[in-house]
Amino acid sequence: MQRSNAAWTSNLGMANARTTFTATRASYAAGLNVHREVEHNTGSTPFEFTAENYEEIGRILKKYPKNYKASAVIALLDLAQRQCDGWLPLAAMNKVARVLDMAPIRVYEVATFYTMFNREKVGRNNVQVCCTTPCMLRGGYDILDAVKKHLGVEVGQSTPDGMFHLMEVECLGACVNAPMLQVNDHMYEDLTPETAVKVLETIRAGKQPKIGPQIDRNGCEGPQGRTTLNEPASGPFCRDLNAAMKKYKDEEAKKMEAKKAGAKK
Ligand code: FES
Repeated sequence: MQRSNAAWTSNLGMANARTTFTATRASYAAGLNVHREVEHNTGSTPFEFTAENYEEIGRILKKYPKNYKASAVIALLDLAQRQCDGWLPLAAMNKVARVLDMAPIRVYEVATFYTMFNREKVGRNNVQVCCTTPCMLRGGYDILDAVKKHLGVEVGQSTPDGMFHLMEVECLGACVNAPMLQVNDHMYEDLTPETAVKVLETIRAGKQPKIGPQIDRNGCEGPQGRTTLNEPASGPFCRDLNAAMKKYKDEEAKKMEAKKAGAKK
């Protein structure tokens, strides 16, 4: 099937050759990476974290040294996105920048890099179909086509009732159970076009579909079942860092004493 609507050329310097590449699909993820100034999304649109989320921010920031609190940027963007029903207004990103003492551009860079952050309003159920190589080889585009047909939308669009939004995304880390899609926080794997549609129908009916593989597979086990990690883990499970430090210091002190005793002889 001819899927291409984009082609471009590239100079390959080493071989001094001009090669033409044809994309299997246009890249849609980038469509959400650009700020579009609209009435409900300007820098001055009101946004404030809720009291509960400020408490959560306090808990998150305790995990990082004070001079590295920018490390919490993804966690705070996620909080802001959840508070905004699944998308990140510009004002929310600016708020995160102020809370973390970051330049706003540094926050925009993070928010636009990860497809988990939505720069525009999305439907209540954000359907993300993976079409990266392992999923593509296992029929990812057939899943995407089935979802598009079932929802009556193209990639980047929401259904008129706001129930679903469709995205094509890069690898979501469940390649071993390809093809797969994610809806909000849950992944649905080992899909066929039919089971993908069934997942969406179940969600539309207000029920929770079975999370994970949609075939008779346990987790990501192969056909032979579980072959590793069959024994209980032997540990250590959680190191007592103070005890470890004391042991290290005691051993170092003993070594020093032995060295000194050796020097006196
Ligand atoms: S390629 Fe689809 S989950 Fe990795």
